[in-house]
Amino acid sequence: MNEIDLDKIDMMGSPPEHEPERQYYFMAKCREWVREFEQKNGRYPLACIQTFGCQMNAKDSEKLSGILTTIGYVVTDTEKADFVLYNTCTVRENANTRVYGRIGYLGRIKRKENPGMKIALCGCMMQEEHVVAKIQHSYPFVDLIFGTHNIYKLAELLYRQINAGGMVVEIEQESREIVEELPSELKYGFKAGVNIMYGCNNFCSYCIVPYVRGRERSRRAVDIIQEMEELAKNGVTEVMLLGQNVNSYGKTLETPVSFAELLQRAEQVEGIRRIRFMTPHPKDLSDELIDVMAKSKKICHHLHLPVQSGSSRILKLMNRHYTKEDYLALVGRIRAAMPDVALTTDIIVGFPGETEEDFMETMDLVARVRYHSAYTFLYSPRGGTPAAAMDGQVLEEIAKERYDRLIGRIRAISQELAGEDTGKTAEVLVEEINAQREGFVTGRLENNLLVHFPGNEKLLGKYVRVKLLECMGFYYMGAPV
Ligand code: SAH
Ligand code: SF4
Ligand code: F3S
Repeated sequence: MNEIDLDKIDMMGSPPEHEPERQYYFMAKCREWVREFEQKNGRYPLACIQTFGCQMNAKDSEKLSGILTTIGYVVTDTEKADFVLYNTCTVRENANTRVYGRIGYLGRIKRKENPGMKIALCGCMMQEEHVVAKIQHSYPFVDLIFGTHNIYKLAELLYRQINAGGMVVEIEQESREIVEELPSELKYGFKAGVNIMYGCNNFCSYCIVPYVRGRERSRRAVDIIQEMEELAKNGVTEVMLLGQNVNSYGKTLETPVSFAELLQRAEQVEGIRRIRFMTPHPKDLSDELIDVMAKSKKICHHLHLPVQSGSSRILKLMNRHYTKEDYLALVGRIRAAMPDVALTTDIIVGFPGETEEDFMETMDLVARVRYHSAYTFLYSPRGGTPAAAMDGQVLEEIAKERYDRLIGRIRAISQELAGEDTGKTAEVLVEEINAQREGFVTGRLENNLLVHFPGNEKLLGKYVRVKLLECMGFYYMGAPV
């Protein structure tokens, strides 16, 4: 996509000042190095990107992969590679712990098997000073560290590292500009994420995202639509519009555009058959949006609507700007307009000050809303967020016991709901060859549930009408009709 011919770049001159030309210049420079590597070793260098965290990181990894492929790296899944890049997440402490463990493991591979291996770290964790300090101190074999605001500069930073050696660290506190038109390597050929905005301004009191992703910035609608058109031309039929709070899309643009308006424009893009989005914040999900979704033929009737807690008192401490009653009323309006909508959510258990009574409010809300599925998290204090300094931190064993009760209730409800379409015929977008069962493929219904049915690789990326024979909890077994 949007490829600039690297062979036409004047590499004798000094690097261009403007983006994205500057990055293409450094891609060409790195490619010279890759060619030397190939001549010396008789093979192209392998690169492996491991992604932690959310859809934003997955999208960033596609961009990083696009840059590495343009340079000439061969992308692989195994960490026994010549360049290993971890795109990290810091939303909960266990995400961080996992990353430290993996870096230690990489260090051992580098020492024993491949001293020329380059190890790079980027993403949300790297925006935290104490993390970078710890890596500099305890993992000196790391070659490159960058953050969330300069992923587009991978080629430039890599070039600097190749020439200077040692550990190159470049973290920026805010994004200076939104750099468009760099290469991107899609994970699937038929579905893609599209960023509509970056950052977050909500400052929910438990959440570190606004600190590591910076202030909210929307992309221009024309750029988003153009990206969708290009994706469609290349065979993509399903897009997921991405942002931390998609409902506040467009408010800061020169000519403001609402999210509902953006969706209406997106719907006009020929070739796109399914549109999804993540994540809407309940506090400003508009009636206009519900209306647009209900009327649309392309916007999937699935809403991931994070509630976080069912207690209005806790929601206030969380700085979520809605009450339990507001949320239930919103769900009522959504269901009235779209009776077939599938609702999913995120819930945090054990937020500071949460009492048994507060927790029972969450249990009650879950029983009333009846989610198709829910992600539940144990509260994890994040340094620098207001909640981490609040009184009444909940003991781990109490939080865990509540967590188990909540999961039990959510599972029971989703099992009841999941079977409701048994016997119906529905359209499935085939995503993968089924790894567990030979001769089967796996696809997704509009409401995001998975379906396994007999088929082969010819069906990948195709829409198939499938009869839903039996529900197995979180997925269906089906048969093509
Ligand atoms: N922007 C999205 C969510 C981003 S983070 C939204 O507003 O809903 C994804 C989920 O991680 C959150 O919905 C929340 O449930 C969970 N989360 C965030 N910070 C957390 C923390 N400190 N401890 C536990 N879970 C957390
Ligand atoms: Fe975090 Fe809240 Fe922003 Fe979501 S809306 S990213 S939970 S601060
Ligand atoms: Fe994690 Fe960063 Fe996403 S902290 S959840 S990867 S925005």
